[in-house]
Amino acid sequence: MRLDLVSFCVRDLTASDSASLARYANNRQIWLNLRDRFPHPYSQADADAFIAHVAQQPQPTVWAIEVAGEAAGTIGITLGGDVERTGAEIGYWLGEPYWGRGIMTQAVTAVTAWSLNQFQLTRIYALPFATSAASCRVLEKAGYTCEGRLRKSAIKDGQILDQFMYAYVTPDRATGAIWRQ
Ligand SMILES: CC(C)(COP(=O)(O)OP(=O)(O)OC[C@H]1O[C@@H](n2cnc3c(N)ncnc32)[C@H](O)[C@@H]1OP(=O)(O)O)[C@@H](O)C(=O)NCCC(=O)NCCS
Repeated sequence: MRLDLVSFCVRDLTASDSASLARYANNRQIWLNLRDRFPHPYSQADADAFIAHVAQQPQPTVWAIEVAGEAAGTIGITLGGDVERTGAEIGYWLGEPYWGRGIMTQAVTAVTAWSLNQFQLTRIYALPFATSAASCRVLEKAGYTCEGRLRKSAIKDGQILDQFMYAYVTPDRATGAIWRQ
């Protein structure tokens, strides 16, 4: 997969991305906004293991955000299962030197459109902490709707936090898609 955007691209991860990914990911300000399975500190071994894990997926659903010739973040979806199999959760992070340039708004917009089509989805959602103002803004700019506040639904760095449920849904379709059974 490769999506060429104005000043960067979203593309498949490769083993050679591990050094730059680890360098950008090793940032407490990033970790504070993500789930605890995102390591901190973040080593190159962590990046190697993550890239190997993604490579094992039958169809990878996490991609590199390449800025200025190196992987500076990732964006991905987790496909739902069972009765939620027409939906997916989106997650993302970007190296701090590149914040505030509109990169993630473009990436979320493009990956949402591509994933809805590629996986025949009806819904993509995100669960930012209520304290993650920049992420909420990105989702709003990418066309997501805030559907509610999940009170006291997470614990991060010892703090109980609310999360927002943001979602992007496709227009109702009468026919056309062949859903995963
Ligand atoms: C959230 C993150 C992905 C944003 O990436 P980015 O490329 O800087 O995002 P954009 O430049 O497209 O947009 C950021 C928006 O947030 C706004 N913003 C930034 N900090 C803010 C704050 N503290 N309060 C309110 N708005 C804020 C920016 O002004 C901008 O909005 P604008 O265009 O209306 O001015 C990046 O900061 C990041 O990786 N953070 C850590 C990981 C994370 O939060 N991941 C999401 C988990 S759900």
